[in-house]
This record gives sequence, structure tokens and C-alpha cells, in this order.
Amino acid sequence: MVSRNPHMAKLKAGYLFPEINKRKRAFLEKNPDAKLISLGIGDTTQPLEKHIAYSLTQAAFGLGTPEGYSGYGPEQGQPVLRERIAEKLYRNRIHSDDIFISDGSKCDIGRLQLLFGSEVSIAVQDPVYPVYVDTSIMMGQQEIIYMNCSPENNFFPDLSKLPRTDLIYFCSPNNPTGATANRAQLEQLVSFAKENKSILIFDAAYSMYIQDPTIPKTIYEIPGADEIAIELGSFSKMAGFTGVRLGWTVVPAKLEFEDGSLVKRDWDRIVSTCFNGASNISQIGGIGALDELGMAEMQNMVSGYLWNARKLRDLFVELGYPVVGGDNAPYVWVNFGEPSWDVFESLLCGAQVVATPGSGFGGAGEGFMRFSAFNSAKNTEEAVVRLRKHLTATKEVARV
Ligand code: MLT
Repeated sequence: MVSRNPHMAKLKAGYLFPEINKRKRAFLEKNPDAKLISLGIGDTTQPLEKHIAYSLTQAAFGLGTPEGYSGYGPEQGQPVLRERIAEKLYRNRIHSDDIFISDGSKCDIGRLQLLFGSEVSIAVQDPVYPVYVDTSIMMGQQEIIYMNCSPENNFFPDLSKLPRTDLIYFCSPNNPTGATANRAQLEQLVSFAKENKSILIFDAAYSMYIQDPTIPKTIYEIPGADEIAIELGSFSKMAGFTGVRLGWTVVPAKLEFEDGSLVKRDWDRIVSTCFNGASNISQIGGIGALDELGMAEMQNMVSGYLWNARKLRDLFVELGYPVVGGDNAPYVWVNFGEPSWDVFESLLCGAQVVATPGSGFGGAGEGFMRFSAFNSAKNTEEAVVRLRKHLTATKEVARV
């Protein structure tokens, strides 16, 4: 018999979204005619924009021709795509050689565990995107510090109270809260990582949603960040590529381990060894997304989801709930002040709306719900009508 990886037993029973799906299915079995609206998982729903879709089809079609066929590509990604990301998304603050194309951030977060091994200590925001913690546990990392992010600290951790850790994960715009860190806060974070000789893993998957021009879209807008930070980027939420799969990780050449060796060299070794590069079709789609037409299309897609986010945000503000997010992020984080899974059930049964219980993202999420803007405008409007009705009625009952 083969012994089980002992770290797997340390994980919480199930990943959050399968649990939500289980409850959704159970509800639908009992109520087969219910028309559920999902504002739960942050998965894009709207069709690809035309030019981006065309780039993908041309790539697929090309594979059927002698001139257009390609097999394995460079493991680090196609040079044109790396250059375009450097130019369009980093304004050449970052060298294209430091950009490693991947099949998405989640996959890269998994591979990052190989880069750092089992001995490192980590800090994560609480509430937190579960993938950082779960993949760290799978690797056998044991020291996990939770940085409380709550209304009391404006969803930015009090760094003066934090112990040193080797790695600091930070996501802005944040999943799940939708809060964004401003320039001064990011400067603090970079100094903190520098003083502690930590590596910051900055998740910028939602950066395209930032509308406020004063909020940095990448950690590399902060001077010195290229000496301490790795950044994760993704086409999932800006181009609708959650199913197509395309992302990247920036590992700057200046980043060093304690022994002076380059982090980038090890990352290159990892991607060359256990990853054969992102799909050639998706990479050509990415190149199309980053030309002039593609950029305009991505802006359009993001604006559509942000419109939904604002509708949801406005509703909760109108009903008097404390709300964050939804302005520079596709998530609206609402404080219900009641156990999150109870609110989940109440919204499911009373409004036929699925939202994500905040407690699923960590202890500091208890009492909150996350509403995702990744739906159609029509469904979002319908959800707003249902939620208003249900929540107003619930409040009336509470008053009586
Ligand atoms: C979420 O709902 O948080 C998403 O699934 C995040 C992701 O892209 O993995």
C-alpha cells in the first residue's frame, strides 16, 4: 500500500466552490423549477469579444496548415506575447524576459510552492483567496500568519503588528473583498517586505478593474518592488479566458534568495521541467487581446462587469448594509452581521440568488457575503430586484 501525502489530511474537507455547488444542487432537486441566479463563483459568463475570439479561431485554423502549425513552444511563452504584456500592461517597467507565460494564476500559485518548498513561513490576508493557503499546506508549509483585513483597518493589515515571514501573499484588487490598496499602502507593504527580507507575491489578477487613476495597477509602480516582488497576472477576468486559460508570472531578475542565487533561474527551471508552456492557441488569443482592438474590447468587457458591480453595490448601500468593493473590483463584499452560511441559505431559498459565504475565505470573513459581478446585466438586474424584495421583507419580519 502507498502512504498518503500526510499534508493532504490537513486540508479543510472541501474547496469552497464545490460545497456551494453541492448546496445548489440539493436546492434544485427540491425545487426543480427555481431559476437560480449565480453571483457566487468568480467565473466569467459573457462571450468573448469579437476580435479576441477571431484571434483564437485564426490560431486554431492555422494549426491545420503547414505554415501555421506549431508544436511545443518556448516554456516561458511566446516572445511576442511577453513583449506585448511588458509594453501594454507594464509600460516597459518590467523586462519581457522576466515575464513567464502560464495557463493561469491558480496553476502558477501551485507551481510557486515548488519554488519555495516546505520550510518557508507565509503571511496571507484574512479573508483570503483559498488557493494560497491550500497549496501551501499541500506542500507541507506549516507557519501561516493571517493578516486581518476588516472594516476596522480599512481592509489593509496593520503591518506594525506582524511578525516576519518568508513570503507575503497580497491580492489587490482583493478577492474576496473587492478592496484595493492605495499607493501609500503599497509603499508600506514594499518597505515592510524589504526590511524583513521577505518576498512579496502580489496577485494582480483583477488589476484591469481599477478605475481610480491614483491606485497602482501593478506592484512595480512602487519603486524598489522589483527587488522583492513576484507578480501574478491573468487574462481570465479581463478577457474572459477562465476556460481558455492564460496568465503570467513576473519574476524580476533582481530577485535573489538568501544565498545570492536568482529566484528567476529556479522559476525558469521549474517551468521548463514540469510545464510545457501555455497552449499556443490561447497565447495567440492573448496577443490579439493586447493589440489596439483587443485592449478596447477588454475595457468593454470590464466595464460591463463593473456596471453589474455598481448595481449590486448601490443596492446594498440603499438597504443600509456596510459594503466594500464593486468600484474598482468585480466583487462586492457585504457585512450582514450574521453567520455567512445562514445568509447563504436565506438568499438561496428566499431570493434564489447564490452568493459566496465570506466565512469560506477565512475567519475574518464570517458575517460577510461576497457577490460576484460576473453575470449578464439582465441577470444582475433581476438579482437586484429579488434581493431588494427578500432583504426588505426579512428586515420587516425582524422588526415585527
Ligand atoms: C473565485 O470565485 O474566487 C474564483 O474562482 C477565483 C478564481 O479565479 O479562481
